[in-house]
Amino acid sequence: MGTLINKRILLGVTGGIAAYKSADLARRLRDADAEVRVIMTQAAAEFITPLTMQAVSGHPVHMHLFDHEAREPRAGTALDHIDLARWADAVLVAPASANFLARLAQGRAEDLLGAVCLATAAPVAVAPAMNRQMWDNPATQANLAAIRGNGVGVFGPGAGSQACGDVGPGRMLEPAELARLLAELFATGELAGLTVVVTAGPTWEAIDPARGLTNRSSGKMGYAVAEAAAEAGARVLLISGPTALPDPERARTIRVTGAREMHDAVHQHIHDAHIFIGVAAVADYRPVQAAAAKLKKQDEALTLELVRNPDILASVAALQPAPFTVGFAAETENLEQNARAKLESKRLDLIAANEVGADRGFGVDENRLLLIDRAGVTELPAQGKAALARALIHHIAGRYHEKSRIKNSRQAHRP
Ligand code: PMT
Repeated sequence: MGTLINKRILLGVTGGIAAYKSADLARRLRDADAEVRVIMTQAAAEFITPLTMQAVSGHPVHMHLFDHEAREPRAGTALDHIDLARWADAVLVAPASANFLARLAQGRAEDLLGAVCLATAAPVAVAPAMNRQMWDNPATQANLAAIRGNGVGVFGPGAGSQACGDVGPGRMLEPAELARLLAELFATGELAGLTVVVTAGPTWEAIDPARGLTNRSSGKMGYAVAEAAAEAGARVLLISGPTALPDPERARTIRVTGAREMHDAVHQHIHDAHIFIGVAAVADYRPVQAAAAKLKKQDEALTLELVRNPDILASVAALQPAPFTVGFAAETENLEQNARAKLESKRLDLIAANEVGADRGFGVDENRLLLIDRAGVTELPAQGKAALARALIHHIAGRYHEKSRIKNSRQAHRP
């Protein structure tokens, strides 16, 4: 069962009498702890005011392809449809009119909602609402078949009495039901029955009781990976360095400080794990010895002697048998080449490479990844870390199951 906690939901509202229910829907999504942004078509504004949707969603409503007043989230491409498409973890169009379904089936992008549906990598679902004759019309049914074929989810419609006085199919599902179906979009079951260990965040290597060596990892990427694995049905253990983030809802979390503590926690729990994902930015070195008391300012220069920390990822990949082992590579240059070298030297199943810098990778809400293994390279384009983590988990699940199939068939053919 998926949840909407911390999910970024883009709610599209098109022109139909059921648009009055969209306000209730937005409120329910927020009650379920989702963040909601609203796009309305011109026709939708004939049925419900943007002001109402702004009040219930807590954000200005987006209406036009080039809308300078409601530009939120702000940073990014300066193109609303691209920024919104990247921001969303899911797009739900409710109500979706017959006209909108026709445009979606054709991939038309002359308005903001159509453009966002085309530009997003997030799942898209529609909740059709229309008169029963329009619903039954072969043109509408052909459009639906095309939309379903493109991977768009279709929620409903329900049947019953309609605003026009007809009785039959075409009623938009109730907001509570739509919120439940939307949450289910996030529950894939791809890792059902498996145990996944994830490391996240930075490590802290003490210099003295007041100071230490650390890095700019916030834990956002690793926590999103843990959440996505749980959403895919896995039992998840998150081993986290110091972060300001709350423990993810559905993962067991162990908090550690230094690399050696993280190493020990990983090895204490790794033997039950089917998959290990090392997202933590682990310090490669630590001070030889942390001073017992705060160091005093004395000489003009101070030399710290450092020693190597254990490589947690490599030590997991070297286990016999090893879990399916996934590393991350944080690179400032030669992304693919450097990541591939780590894949080989640490004997990993897969590596997720990202560029890091002052405004990239660390701390920010968006990221992009190159997934590299011996089969090739897959690019996951820039998007929110939650959506990116889900795409990564989908990829890992595919590779994990493929490897298990090959292993099982080899064992079956062994004399
Ligand atoms: O936390 P955020 O602010 O969201 O930022 C996300 C991130 C940039 C930290 C994340 O996407 C990322 O790239 N994590 C890996 C950071 C890193 O340490 O990369 P690396 O290239 O130095 O290490 C390669 C791999 O070896 C990593 O999987 C790392 O966990 C592992 N490692 C490294 C050193 C060590 N002693 N032990 C390890 O296990």
